[in-house]
Amino acid sequence: MNIILLGLPGAGKGTQAKIIIEHHHIPHISTGEILRQAAEAQTKLGLLAKGYMSKGELVPDEITIGIATNRLRDADCQNGFLLDGFPRNVVQAQALNGFMIANSKVIDHVIYVEVREELLLERLTGRRTCAGCGATYHVVYQPPRIRNQCDQCSGKLKQRDDDREATVRERLRINKHLTVQLLDYYKPEGSLRVIDGSKGIKEVTEDLIGLFRI
Ligand code: AP5
Ligand code: ZN
Repeated sequence: MNIILLGLPGAGKGTQAKIIIEHHHIPHISTGEILRQAAEAQTKLGLLAKGYMSKGELVPDEITIGIATNRLRDADCQNGFLLDGFPRNVVQAQALNGFMIANSKVIDHVIYVEVREELLLERLTGRRTCAGCGATYHVVYQPPRIRNQCDQCSGKLKQRDDDREATVRERLRINKHLTVQLLDYYKPEGSLRVIDGSKGIKEVTEDLIGLFRI
């Protein structure tokens, strides 16, 4: 099953993706995660990307399209994948469409995780990420058992650089109109479905799994 999860920053794409891939045994492809790892490793591409990410801006299309399509060529993506954070604008969606056609593949589900805007700021500024394994928490909605410590690997939890309030506001501003255009791009294709991501994490997972059965 080939899935695209769309949603504004903080909609819960990453949280749901991690649960869904366990159910469906498919890889989770997050362009944000790939870019953060490259930045951490201080590769040339990573350092370039970091300049955009730290300001809340999009990394140029030629970079993200290259990252996503290269990853989709990997052997573990041949029986399905879940894309999170890509495509993020119509140019990327068109590039993905071209890649899928060229490789005789189809996207089975395009799902927009819709969340009331006032919740997004609260979710992002309260997010904490494990420096060891990348697991995601929230100070109120998904707290770790021990304060600031990862339940899975005991790693230290930290705040993503781009989760500070000023950067979050910029990310939301930039992504809002791009997302509207992206939804308009996918609507006529008939594979777009919308779920209410403002509900609790478990309820959203149940709604998503229900959609995949349809
Ligand atoms: P990326 O890492 O993709 O960030 P994003 O799209 O801004 O999305 P987030 O990861 O912030 O949100 P999410 O929806 O995954 O939320 P999460 O599940 O963590 O991209 C980062 C940057 O990389 C971009 O700004 C850009 O610079 C660059 N980039 C990446 N891809 C790109 C592309 N294709 N083109 C160009 N540039 C690109 O949840 C958030 C918080 O809420 C967590 O704390 C979680 O615990 C909590 N939470 C989740 N669900 C719920 C719920 N239902 N109820 C209560 N709390 C919840
Ligand atoms: Zn961890």
